[in-house]
Amino acid sequence: MQTRWICLGAWLVTSVAAADDTASKVFEQRILPIFKSDQPSSCVQCHLAGVDLKNYIKPSSEATFQSLRDQGLVNLDQPEQSKILKLINMKDTDNAGANLLHAKSREVELTAFVEWIKTCCRDPKLRSAPKLAASELAKPARPDEVIRFARTDRLLESFEQNIWGQRHRCMGCHTEGSDQNRKLVKENGEQVSWMKKSAAEAMTYLIRKKDLIDIEDPEKSLLLLKPLKEVDHGGGKKFLKGDLGYKGFRTWLEDYAKVARDEYAKSSDLPKSDPRRLKEFTSELWFKLTNTAPAWGDKLLQVTIHRWDDRAKKWEDAPIAISDRQVAAKPRLWQHTLTLLAAADSARAKEWQRGSGQLPAGRYLVKVHVDHSDRTLTDWRATLRNEDFVGQAEFQANWRVGYGAMTSVDAEKLKE
Ligand code: HEC
Ligand code: HEC
Repeated sequence: MQTRWICLGAWLVTSVAAADDTASKVFEQRILPIFKSDQPSSCVQCHLAGVDLKNYIKPSSEATFQSLRDQGLVNLDQPEQSKILKLINMKDTDNAGANLLHAKSREVELTAFVEWIKTCCRDPKLRSAPKLAASELAKPARPDEVIRFARTDRLLESFEQNIWGQRHRCMGCHTEGSDQNRKLVKENGEQVSWMKKSAAEAMTYLIRKKDLIDIEDPEKSLLLLKPLKEVDHGGGKKFLKGDLGYKGFRTWLEDYAKVARDEYAKSSDLPKSDPRRLKEFTSELWFKLTNTAPAWGDKLLQVTIHRWDDRAKKWEDAPIAISDRQVAAKPRLWQHTLTLLAAADSARAKEWQRGSGQLPAGRYLVKVHVDHSDRTLTDWRATLRNEDFVGQAEFQANWRVGYGAMTSVDAEKLKE
């Protein structure tokens, strides 16, 4: 009898020691390599900065466990339900491609953490180890607001707002699978298809491909230098520095680069979004001004189009479409596709979101601004102002889609 108890006691002691050993061993073999790796964790699929799995790992098994436990990230009685495992297992519901890209690192992290946490939770000594001081907890340095701002879904909203509504300037050649694109891919290679079918795929591609974006100096990104023709570009000059396309691409690049450089430390550093800003939607509606004034030759000209509100008997306050481009001096001509504008969450925004970039037939007003002093070329953030206004004209339009069905207004009919 006596011996059995001792035996049992000894067995108990060794089994606790073994459990502890095992947790440390699993930690050393499975968790530390994740901590020491210079590869990003699966968290980067959604968190571009501010948080990483490594932030939660301390140098020892015991301290890491205490730290996770004290933050409520471990469920002692149902280890499989631990919150840290849920974070590792986060997946995107509508970007299966991105999930796939991170599937391997996620699997490695998940199996390592499941095994290690289960082992720890079986160990009474670890379960009841003393609480760590708040300063000893391992966690991301950035506050939740900053972590949220640095998420890919927030950046995708910025991409949709700033780039996607201007994509008609590039899509003919760069969208995967169009006739023109297929021809250019044959001549130049697959990299021509950087503009994918959805904004999410295009953004994921650009971020992962890296070489079209200069994070340290966004202004020097190939995504800007090519269409500016500051370096050779198979598509020629597609941007004027300061036009709506350049502004949109540059705004997103600056936004992304600042997030990727992890420059926001406090929530008060974050930029405020402007709730009145209209949403932009790409369209295949062309607008043309004929007989442009000789003085406007080669200048950046912007049209804003307003719809007649028959109920209120006045022009709508906010423009329904906008576009800008350089005036063609010799033929005295300006023509371009329109970007449609609508208040966020309005019925129009919802309709255009579904992909039908149409305008109703009817009565419209075009307002024309010309950047005579090339102000936008020296300051890309500058917008056209009252002093740049050169006139407006009313017109009727049926708004048929395509280059061959342009809506045309004679610039000599513009009135101040
Ligand atoms: C598939 C996308 C995705 C992945 C992958 C992902 N997260 Fe998140 N994360 C989110 C979303 C979305 C939220 C906001 C969730 C909410 O508000 O309920 C979030 C919130 C958080 C928060 C809380 C901050 C806040 O906004 O309240 C932390 C901390 C966090 N994640 C850490 C991680 C860690 C660590 C990893 C990797 C192990 C990870 N996440 C992987 C999408 C993801
Ligand atoms: C008329 C066709 C055409 C249009 C329109 C066009 N491009 Fe291009 N672009 C090309 C061709 C052809 C190449 C491949 C040769 C080269 O690298 O210059 C290219 C290459 C690029 C590359 C390099 C891709 C890589 O991975 O190497 C970028 C970036 C680029 N274009 C940006 C743009 C942007 C931004 C727009 C719209 C504002 C645009 N392009 C409009 C034809 C076009």
